Amino acid sequence: MALQEFLDQLEQLVSEAESTFSATESTDALEEARVEFLGAKNGKLKSVQKLMGSVDKEDKPLAGKTFNETKGRIESAFETANERIQGGAGDAERDTQFDPSLPGASFKIGRIHPITQTIEELKDIMGRLGFSTADGPEIEDDWHNFVALNIPDDHPARDPLENFYLATAEASSGEKNQVNLLLRSQTSTVQIRVMEKTKPPIRIISLGRVYRPDTADATHYPMFHQIEGLMIDTNVTMADLKSVLRLFATSYLGDDVTIRFRPSFFPFTEPSVEADYYWNGQWIEFGGAGMVDPNVLQAVGYDPEEVTGFAFGLGVERLCMRRHGITDIREFYKNDVRFLAQF
Ligand code: PHE
Repeated sequence: MALQEFLDQLEQLVSEAESTFSATESTDALEEARVEFLGAKNGKLKSVQKLMGSVDKEDKPLAGKTFNETKGRIESAFETANERIQGGAGDAERDTQFDPSLPGASFKIGRIHPITQTIEELKDIMGRLGFSTADGPEIEDDWHNFVALNIPDDHPARDPLENFYLATAEASSGEKNQVNLLLRSQTSTVQIRVMEKTKPPIRIISLGRVYRPDTADATHYPMFHQIEGLMIDTNVTMADLKSVLRLFATSYLGDDVTIRFRPSFFPFTEPSVEADYYWNGQWIEFGGAGMVDPNVLQAVGYDPEEVTGFAFGLGVERLCMRRHGITDIREFYKNDVRFLAQF
C-alpha cells in the first residue's frame, strides 16, 4: 500500500471519530463509539493498523509515527466527550487533588456557634444533676410571661417600653378576654408551662432566647439567652438551691469558684436572691433565683402547703463571656468568622 493512501485513511479516521464522539449524549452511546473506534479486537483503529504491514519498508517509520499520533488524537476526542458527559471536571481531575498517601488531617468547613456550645455544655452539667430539658415558645401570652408569675398589671416589668409586644389575640379558653402576645422577656414562662402540665416532683431546665428592647452595648443586646432551672418537690429548701448553683458554677467555671447570695426581689420567688460568683478577684452577678412564690404554685394548681421549690434564671452569654474572656456581647451576633473560628 502506498504511504499516502495509508496517511489519508488515518486522517479520515480521526475526523470520523471526532464527529462521532462529539455527537454522543450518554455514557452508553460513548462506550459504543469507543468500542467502534478504539476497541482492542475489532476497532476501526485496529483495522487500519493492520494495513501498516503492507506499507513499503522505507515508509514504515513515518507511517508508524503518524499512526501513534492518530491514536492519541482519537483518545483525546474520547476524553473530551467523556468529561462533557460526566459533567464538568471528571474524576481524573478530582483524583489529582486528593492524595490518599498524605498524612491524614481532616479540615473543618464549619463550627458550632459558641452560644450553642455553651448551651450544650450547660445541658450536660445539669443533666448530670438530674435535670431534664424543657422547651417553650418564644412568642408568649401575658399569662405565662407575667400573670401566672405573680407580676401584677401595674408592674413596671409589663411596661410597653420594656417589652416587645406583638398583638392581641382571642383567648383560647372561650373567655371573652383578649390576650396580649409578646416576645418572651424571660424563660420563667417555661416554669409555668411545665407546672401546668406536670405533677411534682419536677426537675427541669429550659434554655432559649429572650427579648428586651435594650440598646445594644458591650453588655446588652435586645436578644439574649437564659438558662432557667426549676425544682419542685415535697421538701425543697434554699440549701438545695445553693448546692445546685454552686455545683453548676464549679462545673462550668472551675473548682476555685465560690458563690454568694444577696437578698433581692422577684414577684415569682420569695425569698429572692441575686446569685454572684467570685472569680479572678471579683464578684460577678450571674443571675436571679429564689424559692417559688406560693402564689405561683397556686396559679398552676399546686398546693403550697404540700410542695415547695426553687427557681433560677441565668444569662448564657454572660457565662460564656466569662469563660472565654469575651468583653463585648455584640461579638456573638456579628457573624465575623474570624471571631467564631476561635471556638
Ligand atoms: N426571670 C428572672 C430574670 O429574667 C430571673 C429569675 C428566674 C429569678 C427564676 C428568679 C427565679 O431576671
